[in-house]
Amino acid sequence: MKYCVETFDLTKNYGDFAAVDTLKMKIKNKSIFGFLGPNGAGKTTTIKMLTCLALPTSGTATVAGQDILKNPNEVRQKIGMIPQMVSLYGDLTVKENVHLCGDFYGVHEDLRDSRADELMEMVDIKYAENKPVSQLSGGMKQKASVVASLIHQPEILFLDEPTIGLDPTTKRILWDMVEELNSEGRSIILCSHDMYEVELLCDDVGIINRGLLAAFNTPQGLKDTMITERKNEKISRSSNITKIVEEMQKEASPEENASLNSVKDYVEKKNRDSMELSVMISNLDDNLLTQLENLPITYKITKQHSGRIVIDMEDSEESVTKIISGIIENNGNITSISTKDPSLEDVFVRVTAKKEEVSDDNGGN
Ligand SMILES: Nc1ncnc2c1ncn2[C@@H]1O[C@H](COP(=O)(O)OP(=O)(O)OP(=O)(O)O)[C@@H](O)[C@H]1O
Ligand SMILES: [Mg+2]
Repeated sequence: MKYCVETFDLTKNYGDFAAVDTLKMKIKNKSIFGFLGPNGAGKTTTIKMLTCLALPTSGTATVAGQDILKNPNEVRQKIGMIPQMVSLYGDLTVKENVHLCGDFYGVHEDLRDSRADELMEMVDIKYAENKPVSQLSGGMKQKASVVASLIHQPEILFLDEPTIGLDPTTKRILWDMVEELNSEGRSIILCSHDMYEVELLCDDVGIINRGLLAAFNTPQGLKDTMITERKNEKISRSSNITKIVEEMQKEASPEENASLNSVKDYVEKKNRDSMELSVMISNLDDNLLTQLENLPITYKITKQHSGRIVIDMEDSEESVTKIISGIIENNGNITSISTKDPSLEDVFVRVTAKKEEVSDDNGGN
């Protein structure tokens, strides 16, 4: 099986409103997939359809090779779900909830008990196994929910914003667990607003916006696309304005032509390819700063606190090396250095700000 999930024009309408609109998406088997999108974009609605908790209005999907409309019971056997809102019984204890889930999936009692113990140890909730769920903190409830969803060893695990409200240590436990489950061969589908989490864990990312799939790629692929798009926008902006100015120059006087030449220079400068390098220099002084400003590849240097400078410079393969050489030749002592690439958050903001659906590559290959 190549894909753990494949959707075919999956649609969910509430009245006239399409919460999920003809979604076409293929999620690779045994991968960790990040499902992103603004509030109300349609993530939970999609997950509910894929986990057979809600019926699509039209279209369908296969999950673990089974059609969600034709074989919902087979789908349920193969999946585990950690919902956005914990859905355990408040007056039952952690252990009772977990056992109930095991029984629901027909896990044999001995196996159920040993697995429950193992999983409770793993997420560090065993100490509270006899507490009613209603008396647990938010993070403890989430841990109990994780154990309950894994008791039948599902092939595919759906997690809907699983780390919201968890403390940093508990988050890390959950991330480790997701990676471990994935390394055992399970597919993970993770809805999240936490870009760090998504970058850390996910092989592929889908961004949904107003029910439509707006982007699908690897995290790095999304960033690379954004870099290329930005470059192309700059080139096209610059060449459009240059064409207009050149048109004007045909009928301009020599004085006007000189002014229009400076407009052209300004536009080209504004839209040239550039990259940013952030460098910390422990012995930064004015002399070193001037030397770096005078390098032909440097456009602008902004001084920040504690010897940090941000260098706006020509975007070429040798630029970073030239700056480093320039600093070393002037006896500068570099303590840290990094280039500033777009983050996944930048990609998210850009993709979800676009009005129309942009992607016709929806993960299939
Ligand atoms: N039962 C329902 N009846 C009517 N509209 C609904 C229902 N469930 C969801 N919606 C609407 O469908 C849209 C998508 O909701 P959904 O819960 O899927 O968003 P989401 O992407 O999970 O958002 P969030 O990041 O806030 O969890 C929203 O506009 C929501 O109001
Ligand atoms: Mg949601």
